[in-house]
Amino acid sequence: MNSELILAVESSCDETSVAVIKDGHEILSNIVASQIKSHQRFGGVVPEVASRHHVEQITLCLEDALEKAQVKPTDLTAVAVTYGPGLVGSLLIGIAAAKAFAWAHQLPLIPVNHMAGHIYAARLVKPLEFPLLALLVSGGHTELVYMAEDGHYEIIGETRDDAAGEAYDKVGRILGLSYPSGKELDQLAHLGKDTFHFPRAMIHENNYDFSFSGLKSAFINLVHNANQKGEKLSKENLAASFQASVVDVLSAKTIRACQNWPVKQLVVAGGVAANQGLRERLAKELPKEVPGVELIVPPLRLCGDNAAMIGAAAHVELAKRHTASFDLNAKPGLAL
Ligand code: KG4
Ligand code: ZN
Repeated sequence: MNSELILAVESSCDETSVAVIKDGHEILSNIVASQIKSHQRFGGVVPEVASRHHVEQITLCLEDALEKAQVKPTDLTAVAVTYGPGLVGSLLIGIAAAKAFAWAHQLPLIPVNHMAGHIYAARLVKPLEFPLLALLVSGGHTELVYMAEDGHYEIIGETRDDAAGEAYDKVGRILGLSYPSGKELDQLAHLGKDTFHFPRAMIHENNYDFSFSGLKSAFINLVHNANQKGEKLSKENLAASFQASVVDVLSAKTIRACQNWPVKQLVVAGGVAANQGLRERLAKELPKEVPGVELIVPPLRLCGDNAAMIGAAAHVELAKRHTASFDLNAKPGLAL
């Protein structure tokens, strides 16, 4: 049997990416063009600027991905594209490119949910075993997702306010770090100690929900009051205290979910899965607290937005014959 080769396109936020994925798990190429430098001076992603960059980059990424994979359009099985959630203008560029390519080469078009892509980044690392639990932590989402089988998503808990990545970015701004500040704050945290003991919201509540806005406010108030008194607080200790609170809550609730649901694997996914504190804590605690549950955390390059994960998720959709017609539209608020 011939290999299945999927050309995948991702453009939901500020990364233009095209990948070629073989049989749902092997990366033949994964080109990622980041625009982050263009957004940094604005302190966040500017949608109009993002769309323009996607227009400039998409064809180059597409050509690079095919060339690096040494694949011709006639070798491909299907074209996959992220159709939500994300910025509407950004999504539409990827969708237009994927449609044009699929139409020109008479290939099926597979619509992919960006968050499903983050979860399926794990399949690029190890075979998945169900049921599994996914902790999805990104700039826009914080969710615990139970998957009884491929392509089935049950959200058992989620944030009631800010996403974890959003809290990192807002707090980083107060510390004068550039956007997105998760990575730098994580590095600072490793140089400090949890001296401020911020609240651990909802940690003892009997559910799998999260809340990070109180932590953000506590952080902002502390820094504001210190500034008014002319006191200088240690950035390292502030970062370490913030991170300790986030990691305590994320890991406690995730481990409890692994104890209460019949899962074989825990997948940690999304941009915040790059967090060293979270990775270290789960690697240490999970085998102790829930032996037998395997932890899968994708390598850093597959935690952030990329098209390889979209190709991996598309494999599951293609197996179910979930293809789209050429009137596929962007769904900015798409849920799992
Ligand atoms: O998944 P992603 O690349 O984009 C979205 O779909 O949102 O996630 C981006 C988020 C940003 O908020 C960024 O600050 C955060 O992931 N992030 C981190 C780390 N690296 C990236 N947060 C905490 N620690 C990190 N090491
Ligand atoms: Zn993402």
